[in-house]
Amino acid sequence: MDAFDNQTKHDTLIHDKPDSLTHDEKSPVLEISGLSTEYPTPRGTVHAVRGVDLVLGKGDILAIVGESGCGKSACLLSIMRLVPPPGRIVKGSVKFRGKELLALSEAEMRELRGKDMAMVFQDPMTTLNPAYRVGEQISESLRVHRLLPGFPGRLLRKERERERERVIDLLKQVGIPSPEHRHLEYPHQFSGGMQQRILIAIALACRPKVILADEPTTALDVTVQAQVLDLMREINEELGTAIVLVTHDLGVAAEFCYKAAVMYAGQIVESGGIEDVLSSPLHPYTRGLLKSIPKIGQRRELVPINGEVPDLTDLSEGCSFAPRCREAYSYCERTSPPLVHLKNGRKVRCHLYT
Ligand SMILES: Nc1ncnc2c1ncn2[C@@H]1O[C@H](COP(=O)(O)OP(=O)(O)OP(=O)(O)O)[C@@H](O)[C@H]1O
Ligand SMILES: [Mg+2]
Repeated sequence: MDAFDNQTKHDTLIHDKPDSLTHDEKSPVLEISGLSTEYPTPRGTVHAVRGVDLVLGKGDILAIVGESGCGKSACLLSIMRLVPPPGRIVKGSVKFRGKELLALSEAEMRELRGKDMAMVFQDPMTTLNPAYRVGEQISESLRVHRLLPGFPGRLLRKERERERERVIDLLKQVGIPSPEHRHLEYPHQFSGGMQQRILIAIALACRPKVILADEPTTALDVTVQAQVLDLMREINEELGTAIVLVTHDLGVAAEFCYKAAVMYAGQIVESGGIEDVLSSPLHPYTRGLLKSIPKIGQRRELVPINGEVPDLTDLSEGCSFAPRCREAYSYCERTSPPLVHLKNGRKVRCHLYT
């Protein structure tokens, strides 16, 4: 796999979703509604996620974009029920294949994590244990979900051999060179990019139905980034795994994702097909972020907008973006805009469309 192969493979600016993966609205894999998460702090309560609604069908790939501090990570952590206390989910529903996750016990949630829904965190070293060989960490994840038999001490030679092959295979899949030797190494013996790929190998090990990836490629160089994205796409196409990708890179979002959701101050302010959102953004916030359409193969970061992200402990009654919005009128400062549903599945939270 080569980064540049990947770039030349797509000759259009934004590719269409393959027909075989058409979103099945009737049976979403992940259905989130009214999700709200807060972090109590000495300064007051941070309203990090405020009434987020998202629906992902089999094979969907959704980009979540937005400035730093808008609640993207808090949203993914909430979906996995991994919000660090005293932070907590205060409202809403997260359904995975129709099952309400917010009603499950912690033990049931642990069973589901990794096996059905996996998360790739931005910083690999927060997830990898420096004291264990990477091969052991991958087989541990397979064992936890009973994809490999019981305790390592009790495994038969044949079973141990099969486990070793599976681990080597996964490392090979994520492009780790000489996996037959390197599965015996410790995390610090790998570069940051390789550590990230090992995490992705762990996430892919159980062939989950949903992968939540929080800026998985930000720290990687372009070649490795393309390998990681190619790998996630292969899993998506082969198994129909739904993917949520948080990214600051609009080039990556345009190339890799089918849908986009734009987050601001804990809310989704605009969503729709990736092509629609990137080529004709509706919300003044999205328009501010996307000063121009990204081109394939070119890293295009979000453009800073004048003013600051609001303090999430002290939100006003009106539209959170109004203080920075060139198109705001006095009504916007007083009243919070509803989510307006437009054609082609587009949604926007702005008084310009009410
Ligand atoms: N553990 C925590 N305790 C208190 N506040 C937190 C905690 N984690 C996040 N926050 C706050 O919640 C809000 C949303 O943070 P979050 O990390 O979700 O932003 P983000 O969109 O992922 O930003 P970035 O692009 O920088 O990763 C921010 O105001 C942040 O300061
Ligand atoms: Mg984040």
